[in-house]
Amino acid sequence: MENLETGICPSTLVEDGRVHRSVYTSAAVFEAELDRIWYRDWLLVGHVAELPEPGSYVTRRMGRQPVIVCRDRDGRVRVLLNSCTHRGATVLRPGYGRARAFVCMYHGWTFGLDGRLASVPMRDHYGPEFREEALGLKEVARVALYRGLIFASFSDDAPPIEAHLGEARRFVDMALTDDIEVLGTMEYEYRGNWKFHMENTIDGLHGIYLHRLFGNSGLLSSGNSLDLGNGHAGLMWRAEKAKGESGRLMGLDTTDTSPDTSRTIVLFPNTGLVHIQDLINLRIVMPIAADRTRVFTAALGRRSDTPELRARRASQLSAVQGPAGAAGADDIEVFEALQEGCAARAPEIDWLDFSRGERGSSGDLTDETGVRGCYRRWKAMMAVSQADRGRSI
Ligand code: FES
Ligand SMILES: [Fe+2]
Repeated sequence: MENLETGICPSTLVEDGRVHRSVYTSAAVFEAELDRIWYRDWLLVGHVAELPEPGSYVTRRMGRQPVIVCRDRDGRVRVLLNSCTHRGATVLRPGYGRARAFVCMYHGWTFGLDGRLASVPMRDHYGPEFREEALGLKEVARVALYRGLIFASFSDDAPPIEAHLGEARRFVDMALTDDIEVLGTMEYEYRGNWKFHMENTIDGLHGIYLHRLFGNSGLLSSGNSLDLGNGHAGLMWRAEKAKGESGRLMGLDTTDTSPDTSRTIVLFPNTGLVHIQDLINLRIVMPIAADRTRVFTAALGRRSDTPELRARRASQLSAVQGPAGAAGADDIEVFEALQEGCAARAPEIDWLDFSRGERGSSGDLTDETGVRGCYRRWKAMMAVSQADRGRSI
């Protein structure tokens, strides 16, 4: 396919202020992204509030690889490859729950919450060379917690999570206090590239045009688009009191209009954190193919919330997010329009424009300052040669 197979390094497909269409459409670029970004960087895989007790688990994907995120008997958070060491089946079907052990449905191999192979049916049919201790579920190399967010990396060389998050920590700290609870979750797929979600989360211009409900409710005002370093980026703005029926419909008719109540953050490559007034929404982006992406989204609240506030936050999950939400439906429609439209190719139009706003780390709310930061990181990671990778598996 395009460029890669003719020997062009994919990092040349991104320049400061413009992005080549093939970064969304090329299967070869997608494979390179798996190798150079998804199997090297820190990825968000969950939040500790999803794992309230020993045995709690959720299934996720890290790049193409299925994983189990669970709490073992000692309360420790573990991230295990969701692949039976017998013949490779996923041990857990997609979802969440609580288990005493993980039992593979195919032949009943049973794994402990720490991944160890605990039992095999008719053990005496195996010879002396069969070693259970070598057949546990493979553990992902690195796991780190920050403010309840669970990050994992396949790379032994990943820096400490605090260093990786850098300046973005300040914004995570504002949204994620120590008493977060999960009020509801949803997963959906769209027929488009994963980077459309990344771009959209910190796109301060589209709301006025694409989300007429938001545009008319007075939620957007002046603010900033921020490049937070390491590919992380955000929008921050002063929320104004939502006006009219649309604000009420979305459960955003808060009285809290302090300057630091509204922000959307991308932690490169796969975290979206949306904190708009009373709405706290966490998103985990999981790419499937160049033109297909799965998104996990959770409505978050605080244990100190009043019953009214809790109900309002919970209702936002379906009212605002996802395929049927007031904002989600618009965004997903546009992701699919972007994927379809990017198939149109001609030398004069192959480079897409990301030049809006001044250069630097802070621009106007509607500028493309933050997303240029994301692509700087993308370019740097994609330029790393295969030989330099620090993969453990
Ligand atoms: S594939 Fe899991 S027990 Fe056989
Ligand atoms: Fe949007």
